Amino acid sequence: MKRLTIVLIAVVALLAGSASAQRVNLLCSPDLAWCEALGPAFTAATGIDLEFIRVSSQDALARLSAERANPIFDVWFGGTGDPHLIAMREGVTEFYEPEAWDDIIQNLKDQVGGTYIPLYAGAIGFVVNEEALGGAPMPTTWRDLTDPVYKGLIAMPDPNSSGTAYTILATLVQIFGEDEAFELLEGLHQNIAQYTSSGSAPGTLAGRGEVAIAIQFMHDGIKFANQGFPLTVYAPDEGVGYEIGGLSLVANAPNRDAAIAFINWALTPEAQQIAALQGDSFQIQSNANTVQHPLAPNFDEINLIDYDFDRFGTPEVREQIVGRWTNEIFPQPR
Ligand code: F6P
Repeated sequence: MKRLTIVLIAVVALLAGSASAQRVNLLCSPDLAWCEALGPAFTAATGIDLEFIRVSSQDALARLSAERANPIFDVWFGGTGDPHLIAMREGVTEFYEPEAWDDIIQNLKDQVGGTYIPLYAGAIGFVVNEEALGGAPMPTTWRDLTDPVYKGLIAMPDPNSSGTAYTILATLVQIFGEDEAFELLEGLHQNIAQYTSSGSAPGTLAGRGEVAIAIQFMHDGIKFANQGFPLTVYAPDEGVGYEIGGLSLVANAPNRDAAIAFINWALTPEAQQIAALQGDSFQIQSNANTVQHPLAPNFDEINLIDYDFDRFGTPEVREQIVGRWTNEIFPQPR
């Protein structure tokens, strides 16, 4: 009996040891401050360690696809929804129904058809430093951005790395049709000072006055304005597209149990509030019970287009529009 007790104690100690050594590897696509705040809070709540790297959405999809046969990451946290949908369709990620599934805002689930877990939502907009416009008027339409008066005054992200940029291209294609959208992108290209690798970087340039206009998600512009930069955030007259940021379990994740624990924790209202309170991130959070931060944009007040997530979340459509931009627009001298 004594020997059995000793063996049992040893087994329990071993299990406890392995539990505390559990960890989850995160590919994290939102703002760095939010990614950094996740680990300490998750470890405090669960005892599980968390490692992350911050990678833009399109780069994250490329990375997960390349590592598919031998995955390194367990969870892809955040980033625009279209590449999450593509990852799911290509079997790079798998759908897991989280404990909070019934609490996720129904409208967000309906729009992505239960294919990936909605984590947050945000709308594209113009983020403008009026002083840096040097007397040029504030642009009010997408077409305005092709006016030579804005030459060298605009920054946007690169569609090959950034999910924000892909959302911008998809928005223009949905508003104008593909050919007209590409004419507009050609005119816009003439005015671009810089294509940045991440979606939030154009707002840093506009905040410092290095450019006057950033095209990016409104919540990123709101973050910089809230930090004290002289920026005005608004939607152009023709309307804007939006994202339903994703949370996905990597297929064949090396630390599957820890990954599932993380996903369930990340969707609790307490975890979602970390975004605004510690992560300087003002997206609309997906759990209906999360108290939304007052700085989070109100979708009822924004002229949103009827974004077709199904169509723009297919690999073929992505290849067509990103490929066309890369071959026809980017190489043009400016
Ligand atoms: O900075 C936050 C954010 O705008 C998210 O809302 C979005 O999902 C993500 O960045 C996209 O980043 P990127 O354009 O670099 O892929």
